[in-house]
Amino acid sequence: MKFLSIVGARPEFVQVAVLSHELRERHEETLVHTGQHYDDRMSEQFFSDLGIPQPEINLGVGSSPAGEQVARMLVGLSEAVRREDPDVIVVRGDTNSTLAGALVAKQLLRPLAHIEAGMRSYDRTMPEEINRVVTDHLADLQLVTDDAARDRLAGEGIVRGVHVCGDVMLDIFVRARTGAAAALTPELQALACEPFDLLTLHRAENTDDRERLAAIVAGFERAPRPVLFPVHPRTRARLGEYGLTLPSNVRATEPLGYLAMVALECAAKTIFTDSGGVQREAYFAEVPCVTLRDTTEWTNTVEAGWNRLTGASTAAIAAALADPPARPATHPPLFGDGRAAAKILAVLESPETVELVRAARETRSARGQAASTARATETRGESGAVTR
Ligand code: UD1
Ligand code: UDP
Repeated sequence: MKFLSIVGARPEFVQVAVLSHELRERHEETLVHTGQHYDDRMSEQFFSDLGIPQPEINLGVGSSPAGEQVARMLVGLSEAVRREDPDVIVVRGDTNSTLAGALVAKQLLRPLAHIEAGMRSYDRTMPEEINRVVTDHLADLQLVTDDAARDRLAGEGIVRGVHVCGDVMLDIFVRARTGAAAALTPELQALACEPFDLLTLHRAENTDDRERLAAIVAGFERAPRPVLFPVHPRTRARLGEYGLTLPSNVRATEPLGYLAMVALECAAKTIFTDSGGVQREAYFAEVPCVTLRDTTEWTNTVEAGWNRLTGASTAAIAAALADPPARPATHPPLFGDGRAAAKILAVLESPETVELVRAARETRSARGQAASTARATETRGESGAVTR
């Protein structure tokens, strides 16, 4: 079979890492990078750290307001799908690249597989929530991380094509963590020898609201340990625009490569973040997490006692720094066994997928014939309007 995998943002590079190799061993895969993330440290670094095949196609859409960004992706992806003619399109997560991939797949009558389906924060002011809801309702195959995600989809009437596979981010995390420390610079190695906390922050709801960003920064004012803060370019830009200065104990760095990040996650005392991926990685690393959001889609980590929400409350962040959350006694396998990619591959090769591919080909062929018949009877009027 021929697969077209779409990625564009940092977490998607991590999510594609294992599956891409497995797909290429047995099938054909075209990897399309939308270019949503493009700085070396936000993109190329992940391909080299994780040994991901170089994308066959890079659309180079770059940054722009969401509507324009998605529109550019739609144009480029439509062309790529027409040219590559894949049997199945695979998207992951909840970014604008995910949304564009899902729309193009269905517009061009291709079966759509969505990795990490069924996640909800129930906050529709988040662009990611819109992207997830739309993608889930368009996908033919929903590759969910756990039973709760399957149940959420069932609650929305999505019951066909749902498969519980675990989390592909765990697959790569367990492979990367041994030896990841070698990726640390001498400065980061020295820092990681002493107790420290780790911070990441990039969500629009925190960065694009001056009051919230200022309140979060103020929470770190009296940090009792060094706080290592690899800064997302969006956040760096907003801190500058708002004239906010980081407290002295917060050590800002450029965004880190995946291996360095994993090494630091494993060594941190507490991880403060608003990232979906980092919340789960904190759990994989068995390090308590403090989530700087009012909601999370990873409620299972909160229920297990390994994650707490502080929102943008200065007091709650300061309290978590002063009195770090303890490690709970139990650590259930919430995200599967580290073999999610193999399970996803089995679904992608199953008779269910083969039937979806057959049915989609039949529909395209019938529509293609109808369209060519229609074209033969159409002439274009001088005004440009199509007339018969
Ligand atoms: C996107 C995803 C978010 C995900 C995050 C992962 C959407 C709606 N959001 O957010 O779900 O958690 O990626 O990191 O898709 N920029 C650069 N260089 C880059 C990339 C971005 O400077 O390589 C700057 C630009 O100023 C850009 C801003 O960051 O405008 C935001 O980038 P964008 O990709 O739109 O959203 P993210 O915040 O990265
Ligand atoms: N990450 C990284 N370097 C950093 C920050 C994050 O390698 O400086 C990795 C992180 O370990 C995880 C992924 O990027 O694997 C998560 O991406 P991000 O937090 O940008 O997005 P989200 O998961 O919130 O969509």
